[in-house]
Amino acid sequence: MVSKTILLALCLLPVVFSQTNTTFTGTCPTVLIQAKFNETKFAGKWYEIKRFNNTFITGHCGRPSYKWNKTNYTVTYPTKNLQTGTVVTTNFTLKKQLLQNPGKYDVYANKVKNFIPQYILSTDYNTYSVVWGCSYKNNQNIQHLFVYSRNGTLSANFFNKTIKPILVQNKLNVTRLVDIVQDPKKCGGL
Ligand SMILES: *[C@@H]1O[C@H](CO)[C@@H](O)[C@H](O)[C@H]1NC(C)=O
Ligand SMILES: *[C@@H]1O[C@H](CO)[C@@H](O)[C@H](O)[C@H]1NC(C)=O
Ligand SMILES: *[C@@H]1O[C@H](CO)[C@@H](O)[C@H](O)[C@H]1NC(C)=O
Ligand SMILES: *[C@@H]1O[C@H](CO)[C@@H](O)[C@H](O)[C@H]1NC(C)=O
Ligand SMILES: *[C@@H]1O[C@H](CO)[C@@H](O)[C@H](O)[C@H]1NC(C)=O
Ligand SMILES: *[C@@H]1O[C@H](CO)[C@@H](O)[C@H](O)[C@H]1NC(C)=O
Ligand SMILES: *[C@@H]1O[C@H](CO)[C@@H](O)[C@H](O)[C@H]1NC(C)=O
Ligand SMILES: *[C@@H]1O[C@H](CO)[C@@H](O)[C@H](O)[C@H]1NC(C)=O
Ligand SMILES: *[C@@H]1O[C@H](CO)[C@@H](O)[C@H](O)[C@H]1NC(C)=O
Repeated sequence: MVSKTILLALCLLPVVFSQTNTTFTGTCPTVLIQAKFNETKFAGKWYEIKRFNNTFITGHCGRPSYKWNKTNYTVTYPTKNLQTGTVVTTNFTLKKQLLQNPGKYDVYANKVKNFIPQYILSTDYNTYSVVWGCSYKNNQNIQHLFVYSRNGTLSANFFNKTIKPILVQNKLNVTRLVDIVQDPKKCGGL
């Protein structure tokens, strides 16, 4: 009876969130950045739809707000632990790697440079964006990958037709992406 209850409780738990790095063998892939990336147009709120497991952003319902600040972005990134209902807000600054080339940023959290940068691989500003970063060490590379939408949904059809080709072109591993909960009922409080 008790074990049945426990089993039921486990089944009812929402998707577990992860705190593991997503690693691959070898060096970081060479990727293409969004051409003519417009930093002010990219600013504003995004909804996290898919990502690689990582240790930087965990939890579901991720809704990062990018605020453009003349020379860099300040990002406020709340997520929710669906098991505990706890909201955690990660704050960081994005600093342009090359002043003349927008689209590649170093990530600073509490003034400390993160080991993985953020590159805007692709965006149409109004519907979707693909944000990626990579760090190489000891014949392994750790990658961050985030797929965002502006309104909290992104159809499988849109993913297959628009997002997947971008990932394939950049030799990124589509099957390692995990779905992020954006159900407004579960994400209440953000
Ligand atoms: C993830 O990778 C970073 C950078 O190598 C490291 O600092 C961190 O400890 C790793 N986290 C885990 C859970 O392995
Ligand atoms: C970027 O987008 C803004 C807002 O749409 C626009 O005013 C600006 O001219 C654009 N900048 C460039 C360099 O295209
Ligand atoms: C720009 O960012 C800095 C920190 O990086 C912050 O102190 C400042 O208030 C920001 N300015 C605006 C207008 O948001
Ligand atoms: C962001 O830009 C502001 C000025 O707009 C500057 O004071 C601040 O140091 C910058 N932050 C980083 C991490 O470069
Ligand atoms: C991030 O910023 C928000 C709002 O400015 C603040 O409430 C939150 O405590 C900050 N998060 C951390 C981890 O400092
Ligand atoms: C979100 O935007 C997409 C593309 O513009 C649209 O097809 C979809 O219906 C929108 N969903 C919601 C919930 O507004
Ligand atoms: C998207 O692609 C996946 C995997 O290739 C496939 O299983 C799924 O049916 C496709 N969905 C749509 C709506 O195209
Ligand atoms: C994606 O990664 C998985 C696990 O690391 C691996 O088994 C698979 O072959 C990779 N797929 C591609 C297309 O590289
Ligand atoms: C992501 O992390 C979760 C929880 O640790 C794990 O169950 C899942 O297999 C991981 N997914 C991938 C694609 O690495």
